[in-house]
Amino acid sequence: MINGEIKANIIASQKVHERYGGVVPELASRAHQQNIIPVVYEAIKAAGISKKDLSAIAFTRGPGLLGSLIVGTCFSKSLAMALNIPLVEVNHMQGHVLAHFIKNETDTQPEFPFICLTVSGGHTQIVLVKDYFDMEVLGETIDDAAGEAFDKAAKIMGIPYPGGPLIDEYARSGDPKKYQFPISNLDGYNFSFSGLKTSILYFLRKEIAKQPNFIDENLNDICASYQHTIIKALFKKLVKATRDYNIKTVAIAGGVSANSLLRSELKRIGQQEKWQTFIPDFQYCTDNAGMIAIAGYYKFQKGEFVGQDITPDARLKIN
Ligand code: KG4
Ligand code: ZN
Repeated sequence: MINGEIKANIIASQKVHERYGGVVPELASRAHQQNIIPVVYEAIKAAGISKKDLSAIAFTRGPGLLGSLIVGTCFSKSLAMALNIPLVEVNHMQGHVLAHFIKNETDTQPEFPFICLTVSGGHTQIVLVKDYFDMEVLGETIDDAAGEAFDKAAKIMGIPYPGGPLIDEYARSGDPKKYQFPISNLDGYNFSFSGLKTSILYFLRKEIAKQPNFIDENLNDICASYQHTIIKALFKKLVKATRDYNIKTVAIAGGVSANSLLRSELKRIGQQEKWQTFIPDFQYCTDNAGMIAIAGYYKFQKGEFVGQDITPDARLKIN
């Protein structure tokens, strides 16, 4: 990133997890270790600069898988030390939210305060964003994240990891009302998705007992119905929060914000509720370097640096 503009956003996707139906932490850290230097070199080359042009290094301190965070933290410390430039720590979840401030074609950015639904493989949060680094979690999942609900159902159906994008694809030609799955009824703005995962498991077991090819023959309808249930659960709480807090500026972020139904429902419900809605560019939805760079950029401008004694925090809170 140069002066708030992203110059390169290189992503090394980790295929090693596909066959396990979920991220294997040790394999993730090994893949980070293997990829981090080549990815940084590629980014520097793509940006058309040299290492010596860098004025600070921003890195993810957490939350996330500790082994992967350690690799990123150690590498960033070493590079900052070698180049004698400042080090900036970024909270991964703040990064997802701040991806909305990356310059885009329409050049529109949400105004504070706004509400952001941050939905990823590890988190599901309704966040009241008062300022760049002043965020309050109004509600979150008490068990599985929305992305996890997609991925675990995919695993049950034999769809490779990460299943979210594939369920999205199959759902496009399915009937969202064909099968009914329950949504949790928690008070406030919290979510629960573990019951949903169990309900699809029992539902499929029952149907397969009657008809062994049930999944193959009804895949699109199963995916559409399941996806519809997750999105409905998300909007139930999102609408409640925006009404209670009287906020009309609403954004979505995180890997699941790449979901086509979530994106179209945000526009449809947003019109009904008279929201001004914000959806990140596709490339800034799932984990990416751009979102860490923009968060780092705002901290850099405030002179918020960290020392070489900084350590990663797998459970780092958003505020
Ligand atoms: O933000 P992210 O890249 O990583 C975490 O911080 O967890 O989110 C990854 C999650 C995965 O669970 C993946 O299945 C989900 O985002 N995802 C989707 C879609 N694209 C990614 N879920 C539903 N529909 C999609 N199109
Ligand atoms: Zn993420």
